[in-house]
Amino acid sequence: MELGEAIRNRRSIRSYTDRPVEDEKIEKILDAAHWAPSAGNLQSVEYIVVKDREIKNKLAEASYGQAQPSKAPVNIVVCVNYPKISHYGERGETLYSIQESGACIQNLMLTAHSLGLGTCWIGAFDEGKAKGALGIPDHVRPVGIITLGYPDESPRSSRRGLKEVVFKEKYKG
Ligand SMILES: Cc1cc2nc3c(=O)[nH]c(=O)nc-3n(C[C@H](O)[C@H](O)[C@H](O)COP(=O)(O)O)c2cc1C
Repeated sequence: MELGEAIRNRRSIRSYTDRPVEDEKIEKILDAAHWAPSAGNLQSVEYIVVKDREIKNKLAEASYGQAQPSKAPVNIVVCVNYPKISHYGERGETLYSIQESGACIQNLMLTAHSLGLGTCWIGAFDEGKAKGALGIPDHVRPVGIITLGYPDESPRSSRRGLKEVVFKEKYKG
């Protein structure tokens, strides 16, 4: 799939078929995520692949009752390992780690889409509950739950016009 097409046609998918996701596809998706730009190439982003029903249900509960984590065949929990980025001090921990994980997540979602899969980025979740369900230690922060599966819906989306968000020379918002 051409990159522009993947970017324009990817949608957040919240409903999935029962078809299992092939392990080779999951590996391709994670490899693409891992090749995102990385501050100082310190590679602070890590991933937990969850297929277990009980753990997915706990993640749905942690997501304030959003159903996607339990409905999707796979959840990929994207984490930041703080000691890996601590070389850059507070800026590394509070900014670079978040930017880096966002870039990884975008690679992940676009690659999934290019392979015929759907994803939804779950940002609204109780981190303490997610950490408990996944055995995540204190120095690691789960920053996103990405649900993954074959789409069972074709939702539409929209964006503000480019003219509203792009300015020439000075901010004019
Ligand atoms: C940081 C972030 C957090 C998000 N959290 C959630 C979430 O908790 N639940 C959800 O259903 N979608 C979530 N989304 C997906 C957005 O709702 C979605 O991207 C937006 O509505 C645009 O739709 P589209 O992705 O289909 O273009 C999140 C997206 C981002 C970038």
